[in-house]
Amino acid sequence: MKGLILSGGKGTRLYPLTYTRAKQLIPVANKPVLFRVIEAIRDAGIDEIGIVTGDTHNEIVEAVGDGSQFEVYIEYINQELPMGLAHAVKISRDFLRDDRFVMFLGDNVIEGGISDLIRDFDKHPDWNSQIVLTRVEYPQHYGVARLKENGQIDYLVEKPEDPPSNLALVGIYMFDHHIFEATNAIQPSARGELEITDALQWLLEHNYVVYPHIHEGWWVDTGKPIDMLDANSRVLEELRPAIRGVVDELSEVDFRVTIEDGAQIINSVVRGPAIIGRDTIVRNSYVGPFTSIYHHVTIENCEIERSIVLEHSKLRNVGSRIQDSLIGRFADVDMSDRKPIAMKLALGDHSKVRLPLK
Ligand code: DAU
Repeated sequence: MKGLILSGGKGTRLYPLTYTRAKQLIPVANKPVLFRVIEAIRDAGIDEIGIVTGDTHNEIVEAVGDGSQFEVYIEYINQELPMGLAHAVKISRDFLRDDRFVMFLGDNVIEGGISDLIRDFDKHPDWNSQIVLTRVEYPQHYGVARLKENGQIDYLVEKPEDPPSNLALVGIYMFDHHIFEATNAIQPSARGELEITDALQWLLEHNYVVYPHIHEGWWVDTGKPIDMLDANSRVLEELRPAIRGVVDELSEVDFRVTIEDGAQIINSVVRGPAIIGRDTIVRNSYVGPFTSIYHHVTIENCEIERSIVLEHSKLRNVGSRIQDSLIGRFADVDMSDRKPIAMKLALGDHSKVRLPLK
């Protein structure tokens, strides 16, 4: 079996963080989501992976390389425009050939990995496809399945206004080569994309076997900032803690905290689950639960919780607690001590800042 990861697309819902950066490279518990996807596929025993890239091709290649850091072989497939998930499959034909494959959306995080799913698909050569479904609160944001009484799929529909059930398609799909018949046959949807949901519906209508698996654990599509924070919290809860950096005697660090190499915790409190990245300094501060601070960050005289801070940022002397925040790379937040106390802001387009009332 082969793996196919989709990392094209625009990532507009994560602006401004993704103006210059692939959304799949934003870290969850200090590891890019895309790396988690590669590892999930590798851990299921697949070592040949194609990655579909778009505008952020160079950045993804720079981060992932030839795959040797993950002990897999990686081939890149460039998709010039994000013309849909089924279009991405179509242009990957040379890489996939006639092999069975798993397609994993590069911005999805799922509990428990995919080894069991791959094993089931391997055991059933009569299944032409296997899809993963899970119950969600807002099915209209996803592909949705309606099941028959016998548990098999009745039909599938992409982002319906009036959803026929609350069972959403998770971004993990298994296919055999019949999917190419479907991707060649379907037409672009109203939003101008070749939808993988339409390709699956085509398979059903042509009597191919599409087997539904209902996923009972958590799953996050990290499309929006709130979803990134949700994925971060869930992964942090599963992290095995380790203290590799330095914690001074004035500091208090919870047992569910990971401190990476070269990090320093000075006169501070860190409550888990949390992770402090490589060469980051936390001084005179409080880092609360569900927080991931990436590498080379400085946090001084601050309180922060339920947040993600990306690399090389500096947060200093912030008077109120920072929470539920996603802070980009090289951000610099400081309090001015000159009178009159005024705010100096240099914010990117679409930035969101919520200041407390005085
Ligand atoms: O997350 C699950 C959902 O993913 C499913 O329930 C939907 O049925 C499916 O259509 C998809 O919906 P999204 O609107 O969330 O897909 P999105 O545009 O966010 O793209 C998902 C990933 O695929 C993302 O990593 C970017 C990549 N992509 C997307 C497009 C449209 C590509 O590589 N090429 C593309 O042309």
